[in-house]
Amino acid sequence: MRPFVFINIASSVDGKISDETRRQIRISCEEDLKRVDRLRAESDAIMVGIGTVLADNPRLTVKSYELRRWRIEQGKPENPIRVVVDSKCRIPLNAEILNNDAKTIVAVSKVADRSRVEKLKERAEVVCFGESRVDLVALMNYLYEIGVRKVMVEGGATLNYGLLKEGLVDEIYVYYGNMIIGGAKAPTVVDGSSFSPPIELELISVEKLGRGVLTRWRVVSRRSSR
Ligand SMILES: NC(=O)c1ccc[n+]([C@@H]2O[C@H](COP(=O)([O-])OP(=O)(O)OC[C@H]3O[C@@H](n4cnc5c(N)ncnc54)[C@H](OP(=O)(O)O)[C@@H]3O)[C@@H](O)[C@H]2O)c1
Repeated sequence: MRPFVFINIASSVDGKISDETRRQIRISCEEDLKRVDRLRAESDAIMVGIGTVLADNPRLTVKSYELRRWRIEQGKPENPIRVVVDSKCRIPLNAEILNNDAKTIVAVSKVADRSRVEKLKERAEVVCFGESRVDLVALMNYLYEIGVRKVMVEGGATLNYGLLKEGLVDEIYVYYGNMIIGGAKAPTVVDGSSFSPPIELELISVEKLGRGVLTRWRVVSRRSSR
């Protein structure tokens, strides 16, 4: 068994989620950031790849006081669990995502440096799945076992690819901001190799939001799920 998994990502009209320097770019508008905060509040866990942690140093907490109160009233922790996918345990110990605002789980693989893992255990729960890369199927099974039923994935491009490849994604929200970023090496909504045949999606909804467009998709054809 695994949780319901959805990706939320902000993209330029040309499909880029950052530029060639991989620095964080503000693609969303205020209205969209409020929507993202609501999705976070409704989720049990927020997942990101180590590439996003190193590039953006996100906190991944619920920003709105009212939404945090709402979670507590529901008997939930103030913030969802944060999950970092980090095979080699590269996460810096001073990363914002390791602050005390929420529980953080770092998923590593067997190649992770043992002494780094030991130090990290003082700041986060560390779980090990997979030989050289994090086994995402095993990680999702584990999250389900500890009570996580809804996972929001907030990037980046490589983690999105890995999850889609394993057939682990149920829905995708793409917010298209009013910009073109360009750059052949800039990360896109999904990097990695092409899917052949392409993964089929069904459009759930489309709406104008702020100066951009929000699209919501259901994943129809899944890849392997072991
Ligand atoms: N616009 C947006 O909404 C948005 C959101 C998030 C991020 N971003 C941008 O996206 C960029 C970061 O994306 P990214 O692709 O470089 O990094 P990423 O997807 O955040 O992290 C990818 C890393 O996760 C690790 N990983 C471990 N097991 C994996 C598995 N089974 N499958 C896939 N990945 C696995 C790999 O590193 P190890 O091998 O070391 O474990 C991999 O390189 C940044 O530029 C950031 O600003 C944009």
